[in-house]
Amino acid sequence: MTDQTPIEALKALEAEAVAASAAVTDLEALEEVRITYLGRKEGRISLILRGLGGMSAEMRPKVGQEANRVKGAVSEALESRERELAGPASELGADLTLPGRSTWGGGLHPITQAVDEIFDIFRDLGFTRARGPEADTEWYNFEALNTPLDHPAADEQDTLYLVDSVLLRSHTSPVQMRTMEKHEPPIRIIAPGWVYRRDTYDATHTPAFMQIEGLVVDEGISFVDFKATLAEFACRYWGPGTQTRFRPSFFPFTEPSAEVDVKRVITRPDGTQEETDWLEIMGAGMVDPAVLENAGYDSERYTGFAFGMGPARIAMLKHGVDDLRTFFENDVRFLAQFGS
Ligand code: DAH
Repeated sequence: MTDQTPIEALKALEAEAVAASAAVTDLEALEEVRITYLGRKEGRISLILRGLGGMSAEMRPKVGQEANRVKGAVSEALESRERELAGPASELGADLTLPGRSTWGGGLHPITQAVDEIFDIFRDLGFTRARGPEADTEWYNFEALNTPLDHPAADEQDTLYLVDSVLLRSHTSPVQMRTMEKHEPPIRIIAPGWVYRRDTYDATHTPAFMQIEGLVVDEGISFVDFKATLAEFACRYWGPGTQTRFRPSFFPFTEPSAEVDVKRVITRPDGTQEETDWLEIMGAGMVDPAVLENAGYDSERYTGFAFGMGPARIAMLKHGVDDLRTFFENDVRFLAQFGS
């Protein structure tokens, strides 16, 4: 506009430049605004400054002063918009093009995961959780379970005694008796917990380990309930098509007793299927009438079944781990493989 004085022209450019920097939404467009107004060669404000030489001696200082003020104001507007667009991190001097920092995610230990999964299955089958003390007496750990103290299992060679007849429980079976003492049938419990034995620490033994005990007692509980419940558990844990086998065995607190094996069906990456070998997963049996009598139950009226398994062993089979010790050494590189 020809009727504008250079000072008016500068003020108009200032307003235009400030509005333009506020309007852009990325740093590239902001740089274009800077070049349009402040670019050294063709910048519109720079051009006015360069034209000072042709002005009268009276105008020159006034226009020069105003041009410098406008240049400063526009630079400031550009810089503050740049900070806004780059976000708060730019004020800390961060390089926004760097990849983000990854953080460590915690996860549940693979044995804890196995306990939770096994417990969830039995909960769905109507079991509730029971607990007992880790330090217990000879009575609960052995005698109440029909195991005389001269039985090899009760030998001091295998059991960690604390004082006199108080010991660290060598299995979770004492929870059976502690539960039956407090409750009348029907009983349907699952009891995970730590147990202790004088074992040498090697690829398949640790002196402290987890067990999961199960007990069902009611009128009319038969061997069919026993087999069907454990077969159902195996299919839910290891997958449909899992077969179960009950091998005759001996435990003082069950009669008959069995060791339960599973044979799994594994799907290979190419989709074909393969059966595993038989894997032993637990000891089990029909509760010995002597145990029911020790609990004060009428063994003519009530029958039941019980089982005990090691979740660490089950986790080893599930994940193909061949040395139990890796679960206890807490090497994060090993544990991180199990996610959460
Ligand atoms: N308590 C046994 C052990 O530690 C495991 C066991 C076997 C538990 C048979 C049971 C059972 O309840 O019926 O080796």
